[in-house]
Amino acid sequence: MTGPARAAFRLEGWRKLEFLRRMAGNAQAAFRWMHATYGKTIAMHIRGGEYVSTIELSSVQRVLKDNHQNYSKGTQYTEFEPLWGKENLLASHGNVWARHRRVVAAEFHPGHLAHYQPLIIHHTRALLDSYAQGSRTGKSFPLYDGVRSLITRILCDKWFGVLPDSDVQHMGGLLTELTDIAGARAFVPIKLPLWLPTPTHVRYRRLLDELQALLARILHEHGAEAQARMNLLGQMLAAQNAEPQHAMTGQELLGNLVVLLLAAYETPTLGWTLYFLGKSPHAAERIQAEVQQVLGERAPEMEDLPRLRYVRMCVDEGMRMFTVSPLLIRQALAPDALGAHPIEAGTHVVVPSCVLHQDPELWPQPHEFQPERFADPASIPPLSFMPFGKGARECIGSALARQFSTAIVAMLFQRYTYTLEPGYEARPNNKFTPYPLGSVPAYLQPRAA
Ligand code: HEM
Repeated sequence: MTGPARAAFRLEGWRKLEFLRRMAGNAQAAFRWMHATYGKTIAMHIRGGEYVSTIELSSVQRVLKDNHQNYSKGTQYTEFEPLWGKENLLASHGNVWARHRRVVAAEFHPGHLAHYQPLIIHHTRALLDSYAQGSRTGKSFPLYDGVRSLITRILCDKWFGVLPDSDVQHMGGLLTELTDIAGARAFVPIKLPLWLPTPTHVRYRRLLDELQALLARILHEHGAEAQARMNLLGQMLAAQNAEPQHAMTGQELLGNLVVLLLAAYETPTLGWTLYFLGKSPHAAERIQAEVQQVLGERAPEMEDLPRLRYVRMCVDEGMRMFTVSPLLIRQALAPDALGAHPIEAGTHVVVPSCVLHQDPELWPQPHEFQPERFADPASIPPLSFMPFGKGARECIGSALARQFSTAIVAMLFQRYTYTLEPGYEARPNNKFTPYPLGSVPAYLQPRAA
């Protein structure tokens, strides 16, 4: 199905303008249109830089896996440097990245993830209790809003020790606004320098100061306890005094905290899964039957999660239908070749996973929500599904994200059924990590016990 990679089609003139116009509205749709119209590998020049976008599986394999040392994260995160510095787990490359990844790896080790489960159960229960009141009003409410802050709440408790709700909310608000501003700057062709006191720049500076002050206070108030308990914050603080291969400077520590907090707050996958389940009563009924059979009225423990097979299939299908990290971007450090297409050093290579996830050659009827596709994981070609990326830079939180997604969906369906507000069609907000505009408004009905 893949065949030898051909030379790239070059997008120029009005075709390029059309692509950029579409990008401004909906990035995922723009990449899908471009590849459907012009082929599997496409080259173009943007803002003085060379870009190649490829969905040729042999090329994807080369960039993300076989020759990944030759590809850094490039300049894609430059606009985010005021937020998280230059060197951090997400943006750096080579030895610096490996040093950071080693420091946090233990927190995400499969053997450690069971420590998250009591927090997931406790906070999900509290959220679902609070929904009971909302369901009695007979009005619809934005289902995803509560879920979004729930995940932040769980991760902050685990990483820092218990933080007051006001700090968690404040942090979430700051991170959303900051990434919106930085993300918007990353996509515009002409940028004003940040030192110009435009209203947005002044606000950006003020928000950055607020974030620094909040993190400094958390470190001050929770640092000692974190080190005693060796939670994630404790491990990073300890790494400040570690031997060189594990060390982390104070600046790097703050940058990594921001990266991890953002990953925690900006994971809108569940918003999309809840939306597609709201559109698919058949899948919702199957989930309810499975939850009843596996859990009855019990909360899901770690050993239950693999048995919630259909819930997991729905979560995967939600991530396929809408990819929240839709473009994996790299920059070549030295010349390379993707099939017949030469890559010069400095070229940005884009792997649009959102296009692969909807490729009709890989996924028949790609626009339909069909969780059954994931019934036999062995039948899924390895590079056709990568919501968490692939290769050495694959998401460090992927197993944890699957864990809380499965548990939260199961617990929600254990207590409630829901119907979407009539006429609601979720559209992405086209931001850094696109979440469904309107936050999935739904009517909840408690299930008869
Ligand atoms: C469903 C939720 C999530 C999705 C879809 C997701 C997706 C991704 C993707 C696609 C990447 C790779 C980016 C690339 O290759 O350029 C990534 C990296 C990363 N993710 Fe996630 N993520 C999720 C949840 C999380 C969570 C919960 C955490 C932490 C608790 C996390 C932490 C990270 C970190 C630190 C990286 C950088 C890893 C590295 O470069 O070594 N993510 N994520």
